[in-house]
Amino acid sequence: MSRKLEGKIVIATHNAGKLREMRELLAPFGIEAVSAGELGLAEPEETGDDFIANALIKARAAAHGAGLPALADDSGLCVEALGDAPGIYSARWAGESKDFSAAMARIEDEVRNSGSPSRRAHFVSALALAWPDGETATFEGKVFGDLAFPPRGTAGFGYDPCFTPDGYERTFGEMSAEEKHGIPADGSKALSHRARAFQMLAAALLARE
Ligand code: IMP
Repeated sequence: MSRKLEGKIVIATHNAGKLREMRELLAPFGIEAVSAGELGLAEPEETGDDFIANALIKARAAAHGAGLPALADDSGLCVEALGDAPGIYSARWAGESKDFSAAMARIEDEVRNSGSPSRRAHFVSALALAWPDGETATFEGKVFGDLAFPPRGTAGFGYDPCFTPDGYERTFGEMSAEEKHGIPADGSKALSHRARAFQMLAAALLARE
């Protein structure tokens, strides 16, 4: 794809945390980002079978609704002993009350009951860009590691306290935002799944100011 992203785009999220993170990532490229929530766009139902499909549903709906290029992300934790669950259902496992302590306890219980010795897991982040004329581009970042039980750390969000990335002793919940999500200035590979997906998007579609 030779098309470059510039000017104003919509971030297809109603989540303030995701919006802040995406705005920070896009700022060095001179991209102005408004959110689907700020524009009053409805949230489409996430009916896809995988992360990329769900990110595309969100990006296409926002591009169509706003008449601007739209960026969406879909992410989650895949646990090997559970056949990659909770996966695309990661947010849903925390329920209406977004209780991630309960969701991490459920993972621990189900892994112990599975009989599998594996404690391997990976996070996935799919980013989708959609233009109002129907063109799309997608990028997927992953980070592999081990489950940590009991969960440790209070930083980050979601399943961060129960995941130790390969090469580290600390969980994501014990890392600063910069260490987990930062984009290394020397061009080396970022650590988190989301930062890795963003590096791929930036290399393909963005021009640094
Ligand atoms: P989404 O908003 O449908 O993409 O839901 C993603 C869910 O996956 C979030 O609610 C988190 O529970 C989980 N998740 C995704 N990325 C991370 C991460 O970096 N740390 C911890 N949990 C994450």
